[in-house]
Amino acid sequence: MEQELLKLKQNAEEALAQVAGADQLEAFRVKFLGRKGGLLTGILRQLGQVAPEDRPRLGQLANDIKLGLENSFEERKTQLNTAAGAVAGGTDYSLPGRYLPFGKLHPVTQVMEEICSIFEGLGFAVAEGPDVETDYYNFEALNIPKHHPARDMHDTFYVTDSILLRTHTSPMQARIMERQDPPLRYVVPGKVYRCDSDMTHTPMFHQVEGLLVDRQVSFADLKGVLTSFTHKIFERELPLRFRPSYFPFTEPSAEVDVACVICGGSGCRVCKRTGWLEILGSGLIDPEVLKMVGYDPDTYSGFAFGLGVERIAMLKYGIDDIRLYYENDLRFLSQF
Ligand code: DAH
Repeated sequence: MEQELLKLKQNAEEALAQVAGADQLEAFRVKFLGRKGGLLTGILRQLGQVAPEDRPRLGQLANDIKLGLENSFEERKTQLNTAAGAVAGGTDYSLPGRYLPFGKLHPVTQVMEEICSIFEGLGFAVAEGPDVETDYYNFEALNIPKHHPARDMHDTFYVTDSILLRTHTSPMQARIMERQDPPLRYVVPGKVYRCDSDMTHTPMFHQVEGLLVDRQVSFADLKGVLTSFTHKIFERELPLRFRPSYFPFTEPSAEVDVACVICGGSGCRVCKRTGWLEILGSGLIDPEVLKMVGYDPDTYSGFAFGLGVERIAMLKYGIDDIRLYYENDLRFLSQF
């Protein structure tokens, strides 16, 4: 029996050295160390038939061999794992690197930056203001006192009675004029908030406000600047239409339409057969607003405008549902 044990030990050691992978290693374990039907177990079973005086010695020997083989088995297992890990874990320098996809600016951010850079080209500076505004700057300073019906158009998110999420970027008109004397030209990009949500409205959206104050600024200046801007942003000389409108902080006021970017003016589904698409609100700054910031309306005049960035981006790229911007679907976002 002693011979049998020693022979088994030798065979097992030789076999283990040949083992090349996880499957073979498992086969080795079953063959030599398996509890049921393993070779070592087979020999140990015969221990009962051995002469009693030999039993302790042979028992001891069998046990030593068993422990020795179990140790070698574990060692071999670790060796094989590290060898496999070395290739899979990246020490194989010939393998190509891992692909990291590049992120991009959100299409709304891209268009907002493009809008600002066009106005920068026209001599405007860029300013930013707080998203959380006071009632004063969002409404009062823009000639919209408490209980003015124009407040109804805004679906305001209030924080307290006098603090709110700005409903437009126009509050920056007053903030800028308060801290600086004319001449001045600014654009103000930013987020605005309204309690509204459907195909064409999201509770948060983006505007770019424009403001120019100087001596003898006229409606013709406003038309010139906006025409120049529209031609650049849509990369075509589309006709503009100034439609009389009303805003409490401008007088006169106009909404500006651009000839439909889809049909060019002949009428289609997008422009609802009118041939025109509204892109912004504008006007000459109301003398009341100028007075409130301490300007003399007899010396200075100015114009202002506010445009919706999502809307411009939709027209520029032919997007028909504003909610696509905020679903974080990479199939949509990565097209820009
Ligand atoms: N603040 C207006 C709005 O959000 C848009 C607007 C209209 C801005 C006329 C202006 C302006 O600066 O002159 O509906």
